[in-house]
Amino acid sequence: MTTATCGLDAAVAALDGARRRTLTLTDLGEDDLTRQHSPLMSPLVWDLAHVGQQEEQWLLIRSGRGVDPVFEPEIAALYDAFQHPRSTRRQLPLLSPAESRRRIAAVRGRALDLLDRAPADDPQFVAGLVAQHEQQHVETMLATHQLRLGRPPMEAAAAPAGRPAPRDAVLVPGGAFRCGADPMVEPWALDNELPQHWVDVPAFRIARFPVTNGEWLAFLAAGGYDEARWWSPQGWAHRQEEGLVAPLFWSPDGAGGWVRRRFGVAEEVPLDEPVQHVCWHEAQAYARWAGGRLPTELEWEKACAWDPAVGRRRRWPWGEEAPTAARCGSGGVMLRPAAVGAHPAGASAYGVEQLIGDVWEWTSSMFAPWPGFTPMVYDTYSAPFFDGGYPVLRGGSWATDLVAMRPSFRNWDLPIRRQIFCGVRLAWDTPADNTAADTGR
Ligand SMILES: [Fe+2]
Repeated sequence: MTTATCGLDAAVAALDGARRRTLTLTDLGEDDLTRQHSPLMSPLVWDLAHVGQQEEQWLLIRSGRGVDPVFEPEIAALYDAFQHPRSTRRQLPLLSPAESRRRIAAVRGRALDLLDRAPADDPQFVAGLVAQHEQQHVETMLATHQLRLGRPPMEAAAAPAGRPAPRDAVLVPGGAFRCGADPMVEPWALDNELPQHWVDVPAFRIARFPVTNGEWLAFLAAGGYDEARWWSPQGWAHRQEEGLVAPLFWSPDGAGGWVRRRFGVAEEVPLDEPVQHVCWHEAQAYARWAGGRLPTELEWEKACAWDPAVGRRRRWPWGEEAPTAARCGSGGVMLRPAAVGAHPAGASAYGVEQLIGDVWEWTSSMFAPWPGFTPMVYDTYSAPFFDGGYPVLRGGSWATDLVAMRPSFRNWDLPIRRQIFCGVRLAWDTPADNTAADTGR
């Protein structure tokens, strides 16, 4: 790998951090772990063993340390996500929770041993990849917990208060920006974030904040779910077929309003919190109703990372300084996004707030490779999804760990997906003659 050294300590810390969260979220009884809580999700015990099986595959077997594997081939095959759709995994002869824990600990022991003896960058990059993969499954497990009845095995930290702030839009003048990750800055950037390249982005406006529950309630009150004109033909067909009338986990309160279920508890819908659990079709319908549109992912990334004053990318929206609780959410500790206005210190150079760490934001772009794309060691991570059927989400949610959250990080999912921690931010076209082009490069 021709990149900056990933760092042995950073790799070990990232692996440790991911495992702590995995074990916390699977600290449940056997019945809870082996049950299929929703056909949309795996039994939690599948995720538990899968993270170790994949760690062995990428970090150990591919580097020639696959003799006498911890997961024998016939067992490993049970944890192949491509072979077994989520809704079928409950029927597989899966390892028990205790056996899963034993095996993933054994793999981890061998992985740490390998890292200790191999100071080269490559295993450290793969360790970073493994840590990101495990953290992505942690977020998936949180989505399972949200679908599951009952409280998750963790207490929520207090969410920061929002602040009254104009729900306006900011102008991002037209001009080129540097898209994608710089591996010298982001040594664990995944293949789909590379290579970094210049892109010209015409002027646009983007909302300072994500769309809130309160704003979504106005869409409901205006009959937004009842009028086909706001929806794409495919979106309307899906809305009809599934009977969509509100975000997932919302239900009528019996008095003309709505309540939501969050991790097993019914509660009032908080008006100032970014809306969650709406699919891409709903996001597009809302945007059309509101007189806007979804941003493209290039617009989103420019608004997030570009600093027009110096013609350079920022490491984070706010600059180079490390994330703090004042700048963004992360790590799943709050079990909810922060109210809008909670993170003024996290604003981007253009003044856009809460771009990372609250909700994944749907964009209008379909997942596709950047020019010059080269698959990484886990060569089926991105490429099988470049078929034009997966809208891109950006930003990272409150459930996302920092190891898998950065301005260049690209997430994608089916346009009907709602159980993930996804929301919406609006954008608008801007007539070119209203703006001065910035000095891109
Ligand atoms: Fe996976």
